[in-house]
Amino acid sequence: MTAARVIETNEGIQSELTAEIFDEFAKGMRDKGWNGVAEMIASGIYGGDILEIGPGPGYVGLELAKRVKLNSFTGCEISPAMIQIAEKNAREYGIEACYVEGNGMNMPFSDNAFDCVISNGSLHEWESPVLVFNEIYRVLRPGGRYCITDMRRDIGFFKQSMIYLSTKPKEIRPGFLSSLHAAYTKGEMQELLRNSRLCDGMVKEDFMGLSITGEIKKY
Ligand SMILES: C[S@@+](CC[C@H](N)C(=O)[O-])C[C@H]1O[C@@H](n2cnc3c(N)ncnc32)[C@H](O)[C@@H]1O
Repeated sequence: MTAARVIETNEGIQSELTAEIFDEFAKGMRDKGWNGVAEMIASGIYGGDILEIGPGPGYVGLELAKRVKLNSFTGCEISPAMIQIAEKNAREYGIEACYVEGNGMNMPFSDNAFDCVISNGSLHEWESPVLVFNEIYRVLRPGGRYCITDMRRDIGFFKQSMIYLSTKPKEIRPGFLSSLHAAYTKGEMQELLRNSRLCDGMVKEDFMGLSITGEIKKY
């Protein structure tokens, strides 16, 4: 049986030191090509005006931005410490990205502002995924696409131990476990989606995570 979900944080990654350690971890994942960008493109994320929710240090969105036909790139991030790092990384990539401090549950953007919304590894931290899903619906244009990826809690002890031991730097390992314990299962995610405006979103399981994808139908 899968253990009950344990909330990790309702305020994102706020400390500067944690943000720097996370940057080192995320850069390592980027260098290994483990960032989910290919899956996002395969799911229909095509470019245009893109919004990323919870970009953290930014590598996932920046790698995607390199590969699609971009009109604009915006990040909505709750942590000022992460925004500073993402802005530095975007400059290094030579990509014009605008990172805005905000909460995915109540985003500072007008209706129908974006063509695509992406998010990786942030969902398990959202205080109310349903509110964020409703916001994704609101800010996407008709025909807009979304792809949200995250860990899943029910990967089992063997995979958990394997990932724990290979996670670098070592300081991030307790954070990996707390994130995993806060992550959702496919069934829980389907139930949350049913109660939101993304009710026809598709949830898929993979080796260690979940993806939620779909297209917005309005009017
Ligand atoms: C585990 S990190 C993942 C960062 C990045 N997406 C990646 O894959 O490397 C989660 C990020 O989501 C941010 N976050 C958490 N809750 C948020 C919310 N409600 N709105 C916006 N950002 C949020 C955190 O501050 C953190 O930067």
